[in-house]
Amino acid sequence: MSLLDRIDAKRLPRHIAIIMDGNGRWAKERGEERYVGHQEGVVSVRKVVEAASDLGIRYLTMYAFSTENWNRPKEEVDALMTLMVAAIKKETPDLMKNNVRLDAIGNLARLPELARHTLQECIDETSSNTGTTVVLALSYSSRWEITDAVRQIVAQVESGELDARSIDEETISRHLTTRNIPDPDLLIRTGGERRLSNFLLWQLSYAEFYFTGIYWPDFRKEELYEAILYYQQRERRFGRTSEQLN
Ligand code: IPE
Ligand code: IPE
Ligand code: MG
Repeated sequence: MSLLDRIDAKRLPRHIAIIMDGNGRWAKERGEERYVGHQEGVVSVRKVVEAASDLGIRYLTMYAFSTENWNRPKEEVDALMTLMVAAIKKETPDLMKNNVRLDAIGNLARLPELARHTLQECIDETSSNTGTTVVLALSYSSRWEITDAVRQIVAQVESGELDARSIDEETISRHLTTRNIPDPDLLIRTGGERRLSNFLLWQLSYAEFYFTGIYWPDFRKEELYEAILYYQQRERRFGRTSEQLN
């Protein structure tokens, strides 16, 4: 039985979040520039989006560039931005064909003009698609997002629009960049590290975590199926006892 056949279509994660890591090491092991790893990583993005879309996964969030990644050498940052622009342009027709909607979270104002513009065009063009929503996390970090949410909430309290005593978890969720997206059920991190690197700290409260040593450029459809099968073996108790669930 193939991995795909073993997946229970009735128990799919509604939202998968992925920390796509290991591009640089993948390239280095081949004696190539880091850039080559990022290029090959784009192919993985395409394959994983296709697989998720074919399976009927509702949301797929992909960590493509963190706030901290701005501290990389300028040449690498520039190369990543250029690659993103080219990839979005190239992939938009296929996103349309597959009914995939693109969205983005992060401090997008920090992106170079061309990158921001190209991204926005694709978001607008795919906005009526009803299949999988792919959310690119760009110039994103969770602490940036939470800090920004606090600022917005305080401003509303100061203006009298919001009563401080009414602030609850829902208020906070509503002010995060993920406000229209359900929390991830499954988090995947490739590349061998077991850390969150400032990704979706609030939203991952009850996600299942899947870590693999496979570098992102080698993570393709079969690897996604493996992660989903792992997820389907977990019992999600949300604080209750196993007996309560049955
Ligand atoms: C992930 O791969 C891509 C980005 C963070 C943009 P890395 O570039 O971090 O690759 P490694 O971790 O150095 O191998
Ligand atoms: C995390 O990868 C960010 C992305 C995948 C975009 P990093 O390679 O930047 O993470 P750290 O710094 O090693 O934790
Ligand atoms: Mg890395």
